[in-house]
Amino acid sequence: MGDQLASQSSPTGKPLPSVELVDLKGTTVPFNWPRLQGNELDYIRRSVEHGVTSADGPFSKAVVELLIDEVGCELALLTTSCTAALELSAMLLDLGPDDTVVVPSFAFVTSALAFTRQGAKVLFCDIEPETLALDPAHLSDLMDPSVRAVVPIHYAGVGCDLDGIEQVLADWPEASLIEDNAHGLFGSHRDRPLGSVGRMATLSFHETKNFTCGEGGALILNDQRDVDRAQVLYHKGTNRNAFLHGLVDKYTWQDTGSSFGLSDVLAAYLYAQLEQRESIMARRRHVWDRYRDLLTGQVEDLGVTLPVVPEGRVQAHHMFYVLLDRPDRRNEVLAAMRASGVMGTFHYLPLHLSPHGQTVSRRPTECPVSEDVSGRLLRLPFFTDLSDSEGDRVVAALLEALTATA
Ligand SMILES: Cc1ncc(COP(=O)(O)O)c(C=O)c1O
Repeated sequence: MGDQLASQSSPTGKPLPSVELVDLKGTTVPFNWPRLQGNELDYIRRSVEHGVTSADGPFSKAVVELLIDEVGCELALLTTSCTAALELSAMLLDLGPDDTVVVPSFAFVTSALAFTRQGAKVLFCDIEPETLALDPAHLSDLMDPSVRAVVPIHYAGVGCDLDGIEQVLADWPEASLIEDNAHGLFGSHRDRPLGSVGRMATLSFHETKNFTCGEGGALILNDQRDVDRAQVLYHKGTNRNAFLHGLVDKYTWQDTGSSFGLSDVLAAYLYAQLEQRESIMARRRHVWDRYRDLLTGQVEDLGVTLPVVPEGRVQAHHMFYVLLDRPDRRNEVLAAMRASGVMGTFHYLPLHLSPHGQTVSRRPTECPVSEDVSGRLLRLPFFTDLSDSEGDRVVAALLEALTATA
């Protein structure tokens, strides 16, 4: 147990909230452990002292420039979350009750919710057993004239089959590709950066992601034709951006929209992380490769499959998972690992079976691979600063749990 972060009184005389600094690690290997990577605290201080702490301040501009440069997009709009960026994409497409959006069933809730709250229906698509990402063959069966968007996820930071999906979409020009790239910033697919292929893409800077500012996200715009309207929706439905650039002498309500912008204080935090992108990516790669090397040849006879990265895809090393042979074993293995202080976890539950998912789908679909994988997938602790000795401990706990449950 640690120190008290705040013990003084506030200006009103009331005590400030007392935040106990708990050592997340203690004697365990936590599932995630976000750490300072460089200049975060200095930049946060500078942002607060500079006084421009709302959206679109100097640190936001620096992050946007960096993303434009790295992803090669037309514009990046920093948002309060990836969920908010998905919602902004749904607004930009003017989706309504007659429109359908195809999303993988094996997905985060808001990958679908962002579109249904705009009034659209969803169609749940199955995933490929190797990449655990949207299956183009099933997508092809699902397409109909009501489909306005297809939203694949680059699961675990490994590119989905973008070629296969683009091939299907070539016959459906009314359907836009939106990459949910919450996991895959700086990954690539046949030399195309993940997030640069769709009409739009979204990013997450949540605490659990490779680059974080606590909560944050971005909408990546790859089509110049979306830029002006996206700026209006992003700026609460007003032409404030045009005003700030001296293009109009006052700004007013023009369109739908909302308050999507990320505070510059959080952009300062995020910029410090992104500055360290080479070292962060290298260290995550080391953690991933080490898990793979230590487990290869050890786990196959214990009924475990390791993740697959197809040729031509550079992954973003967002997570390391294993697939067990039987779903009834997964929770037992997790419990045994936790008992020895190693905090593994599971992942998405299939959305096509969820109570709300069933009420918002255009029609029922079958997603057997999503159901199967969801029950068998186990994620190992994975974070940038995971040490070799912690990695060894995780592997030992997994092997012991697998042997005990074989
Ligand atoms: C694939 C995917 N999309 C979207 C999200 C939502 O991200 P955020 O928490 O930034 O809204 C997540 C969250 O983990 C996710 O895994």
